[in-house]
Amino acid sequence: MAVAEKAPRRPPPRTVELWNHVPDDSNPLGVRSGARPAMSAAFPNLFRPLQIGGVVVKNRIVSSGHDTVMAEDGLVSDQLVAYHEARAEGGVGLIIMQVAGVHESARYTYHVLMATDASCIPGYRRVAETVHPHGCKLFGQLFHPGREVMESQDGSAPVALAPSAVPNERFHVMPRELTLGLIGEIVAGYGYAAGLLKEAGLDGVEVVASHGYLPSQFLSPKVNIREDCYGGSFENRLRFLREVVAAVRAAVGPDFVVGVRISADELEEDGLSAEESLAACRALDADGSVDYLSVTLGTSATLAGSDHIVPPMSEPIAYTVPHAARVKAAVSVPVFAAGRINQPQDAERVLAAGGADAVIMNRALICDPRMPALAEQGLVDDIRACIACNQACIGHFHAGYPISCIQHPETGRELTYGRRIPAPVSREVMVVGGGPAGLKAAAVAAERGHRVVLYEAKGRVGGQVLLAERLPERQEFGGAVTNLASEARRAGVKIVTNTFVDAAFVRTQGPDVAIVATGAKPRHAPMEILGKPTVLDAWQVIAGASVPAGRVVVADWNGDWVGVGLARMLAEHGHSVTLAVNGYYAAASLQQYVRDAHLKALALTGVTIEPLLRLFGADDDSVYFQHVLTKKPVVVENVVALVLAQGHVSDDALVAEIAECGLEVVGIGDCLAPRSVEEAVLEGLVAGSDV
Ligand SMILES: Cc1cc2nc3c(=O)[nH]c(=O)nc-3n(C[C@H](O)[C@H](O)[C@H](O)COP(=O)(O)O)c2cc1C
Ligand code: SF4
Repeated sequence: MAVAEKAPRRPPPRTVELWNHVPDDSNPLGVRSGARPAMSAAFPNLFRPLQIGGVVVKNRIVSSGHDTVMAEDGLVSDQLVAYHEARAEGGVGLIIMQVAGVHESARYTYHVLMATDASCIPGYRRVAETVHPHGCKLFGQLFHPGREVMESQDGSAPVALAPSAVPNERFHVMPRELTLGLIGEIVAGYGYAAGLLKEAGLDGVEVVASHGYLPSQFLSPKVNIREDCYGGSFENRLRFLREVVAAVRAAVGPDFVVGVRISADELEEDGLSAEESLAACRALDADGSVDYLSVTLGTSATLAGSDHIVPPMSEPIAYTVPHAARVKAAVSVPVFAAGRINQPQDAERVLAAGGADAVIMNRALICDPRMPALAEQGLVDDIRACIACNQACIGHFHAGYPISCIQHPETGRELTYGRRIPAPVSREVMVVGGGPAGLKAAAVAAERGHRVVLYEAKGRVGGQVLLAERLPERQEFGGAVTNLASEARRAGVKIVTNTFVDAAFVRTQGPDVAIVATGAKPRHAPMEILGKPTVLDAWQVIAGASVPAGRVVVADWNGDWVGVGLARMLAEHGHSVTLAVNGYYAAASLQQYVRDAHLKALALTGVTIEPLLRLFGADDDSVYFQHVLTKKPVVVENVVALVLAQGHVSDDALVAEIAECGLEVVGIGDCLAPRSVEEAVLEGLVAGSDV
């Protein structure tokens, strides 16, 4: 079957139908551009205060614990304070700070925040003193990973501790069984850490019993195979968590908030089941020792289980809410729900339907710290919605870098780019190219007071994102362009489409400075061609070029969304597909949870993945590769078409031409060197800030 002439537009993100009594309307609030509803009419539940123990949170929006990789030597850094200040200023009701180790054996990464001695107090106090004036409450997470140790401090594998010597599948850790003495020490560590955070002026603490970390390892009968008082019966397996909560309560007293984060279902063979998780929630509630429960899904221990920690765009909006609702129906304390609740409209629907008492909107706030304030003012169209690409937030975390956002590179760079510095002199700025780099540069330059005109050769702005959004489960990516384009328009940028810019045109316009963001073109790697094979490039196929029926080979150089996306698209259109990659596995450049979604789909659609192959050539019915390690030839036969996903080459000629005219010019994004949207938007920010 041939690929359809035009790739179909994908439906909007799916929404879990927990709230059947609320009409399934993609615009449930009737919000239209220009029509700004009054706050109370639009979000009556979202901006209702919430009582949690002795604390009143001003609204129902929560920034949940997330490791920012901004701690320095285990302590709060200036950057971490600035990061949280931006969110508090933006109107979030409650910030729960990232995991903090409660014991030396809790160092699951080299950059984890620690709360094992009083040296942590000044840093936490600074965050509390910074967010409180904005009316934002602050809790801190108390953490022990058990066997979920990702890396060490010095590159050598540390001794991981767990209830039993049962290995973890994802990080290949075989832990050591905890002795009773160490259990007592760790339980005491939770209490001690809670006391430190209280002394620092926080409003509460949250015990991380979610995602397969230590308390949940004790709860799971498959991970905990102890035969002492901590193993066996449900009561015994719950003992550790109960002791932890009791130690924390004893340290902080009755009025300080104590919560527990738990996975309602770890969705894995050896993980905590929905029934046991619910039983644990009921028991904690009945004990009267916790003030709230924060409900999530998944486990760190396996690839598939970990995908729920930060669910990618392949998961439906608010898909975890039915699980939170089940817990909410069973307990008396407030329940938070987390997972792909990234727009205030979705959040309002969750709350209105009684799915949760508060909504975690973590990436929504990473992407747009001002989201709560904009929603409260009815400016929903101005919100930069998270697209769940996972690239710069959890993607950076996994790579060991401070988190950011591909759409909002100011995140994680608040100390440098947190505020726009007005331009000393307003200049005429010409931006050439309406992809992410050009749009961001134009918006930032205009926000600083420059007069900016952006020229785009095509009829629509967006650049390569317009192709990305056509690929399976990548449709939300288009949101990045919607967001960047409205940022530019709001800043006063004049956007001119269908206009090709050359050096002569630039001279006639005579700007003070030109920012060139002309992007890149598909790269056609050198290869031997015999006969007349059908060879297409990725852009042609994504744009809807006809592909003959039969076996198609996709030759992928970059390991990004293009190769796997094309392979999926072609397989879904009935082709037999071989995806040949030059690395160890497909989608190697994508964040793990995103990669997992693609690899799962490729497996289900029967795509054959061939690793470690470098493209060599093609004839009428075969594609030739060279094995990158053995250097021996590998032939794929009976092929009707070869699709090249061989990366891109810069389209940068205009930069040199403008420079030759003696005009000030800067090249950014793919035009400088082909990379991803993340670098394009960041360079747009830098260029717009510098002109
Ligand atoms: C960069 C990053 C780090 C995270 N680290 C933690 C963490 O320290 N503790 C935790 O309980 N959850 C952590 N999470 C999960 C979030 O708290 C949250 O549950 C997740 O982002 C899903 O919510 P969202 O769809 O609103 O983003 C992390 C998420 C991200 C993006
Ligand atoms: S990097 Fe992607 S997933 Fe992460 S906050 Fe930004 S838009 Fe959302």
